[in-house]
Amino acid sequence: MPEWLKNAVFYEIYPQSFQDSNADGVGDFKGIISRLDYIASLGATAIWLNPCFDSPFGDAGYDVSDYLKAAPRYGTNEDLKKLFDEAHSRGIRVLLDLVPGHTSVEHPWFKESLKAERNEFSDRYVWTDSVWKEPAGMASLRGISDRNGSCAVNFFSHQPALNYGFYQPDPAEKWQQPTSAPGPRATLEAMKDVMRFWLGLGADGFRVDMAGSLVKNDPESKGTIALWQEVREFLDKEFPEAAMVSEWGEPDKSLAGGFHMDFLLHFGPSHYNDLFRCEHPYFSPEGKGDASGFIEKYRENYLKTAKKGLICIPSGNHDMDRLARSVKDRDSLKLAFMFLLTMPGAPFIYYGDEIGMRYVEGLTSKEGGFERTGSRSPMQWDKTPNAGFSAAAPGLLYVPIDPADDRPTVAGQEGDPLSLLSEVRRLTALRRSTPELQSEADVEFLSVAKGEYPLCYTRAGRLLVIINPTAKPQEYTHTPIPWEEIYRLGEAIKTDGGRTTVPPMSGGVYRV
Ligand code: NOJ
Repeated sequence: MPEWLKNAVFYEIYPQSFQDSNADGVGDFKGIISRLDYIASLGATAIWLNPCFDSPFGDAGYDVSDYLKAAPRYGTNEDLKKLFDEAHSRGIRVLLDLVPGHTSVEHPWFKESLKAERNEFSDRYVWTDSVWKEPAGMASLRGISDRNGSCAVNFFSHQPALNYGFYQPDPAEKWQQPTSAPGPRATLEAMKDVMRFWLGLGADGFRVDMAGSLVKNDPESKGTIALWQEVREFLDKEFPEAAMVSEWGEPDKSLAGGFHMDFLLHFGPSHYNDLFRCEHPYFSPEGKGDASGFIEKYRENYLKTAKKGLICIPSGNHDMDRLARSVKDRDSLKLAFMFLLTMPGAPFIYYGDEIGMRYVEGLTSKEGGFERTGSRSPMQWDKTPNAGFSAAAPGLLYVPIDPADDRPTVAGQEGDPLSLLSEVRRLTALRRSTPELQSEADVEFLSVAKGEYPLCYTRAGRLLVIINPTAKPQEYTHTPIPWEEIYRLGEAIKTDGGRTTVPPMSGGVYRV
């Protein structure tokens, strides 16, 4: 694992909505460059940039039409290189978003593969051998060209699935190629070239979209794991410092594939939503939440992956509701960040979550966002027009700004020691200066019972984190005994006659 990941804090940027520098209503590379000092001031050491490649933007850029060209609306490849250089000069790494599973229907590879005559790209996508036959278990595109076949799609109908082969091809279905067939091999080599290109230009690694679903008919993911192991070998040889994080949600598999990090996701088995995004989130004053399912699953994954890589817990991302949609008040958000920034793995902060940006209700879908659109609104910098995001006319903005008069802004929280922003900065500073709180130090949960509050865990056996997100005092009944307080939110814990009480909506980090 690259050394820098051991103490990394990531910041996710949705480029459309971060900072517009040319008044066209859409964010861009120059805009991001102008905000790098802010990102550094958060204590973030790395950026994950959502897809920024040429695209018709039917899925916000997850429908790539040219993997080797920056989307002109964000700038040129040179501007992106400048972003890498400027970030590096501030000690910030940049991970691009690699979308290896599918392209846009507008990608030249797909246009070639649509042709009836065989050519170099006929096997680049997952095609059946008859327009009347659809790939089992997958949606498909059919009847849109002279080619007699149906092409599997991975996500939206305009995102045809690239062909990495089938782990268990059905011998009766010759179109299902093994992973070793020339078509799938060529796809993988093409994707390695894409990685080579951007890493060569100065990118520091990739977040990989839908990393677990490349090989088809692969029930235990063995084919996909083998594919990523091959990628790891290639990276170890040519770019050993490149960091890789997967959108997979099953860390035992992705880390076996050679990823350094995997995300906990809002879908799949993680119980991540129980913490922040459900009817009764754990991080809520009402105290009706239950973290036990999350803890159990986390421990299971943690034990399976011990020392092999990192499990990353994001504050949110461009696909989820904003954290502040269900964790509503400032103090609860602070406690949520206390958790996120004191857990192992590399924390990921979704842009704007550090000021408690809200989900914007009722927006019309933009670029395939649908209900995700409300989490993709422009960053709120200050009280100037368009919240400082853009000098364009408001009607031209990518997505409207949160219309609330009291919408949070960076400027409004900058100098306020009680703001969420100030707390996030203090927490990242604590993490970065405390080895026991960093990516690889052990964690052990003490509170594991159903519905139990407060949340308690130790780090490296030397620090104890206690968080009571509820509006009631809660008793701490475990050992070890909190000793020296090194961080506190809210009132101090009280010890009286052998009972330790954790005041409402408070938390602390203690040496033990
Ligand atoms: C996951 C991405 O995060 C999401 O935004 C996208 O729509 C799908 N993958 C398809 O690429």
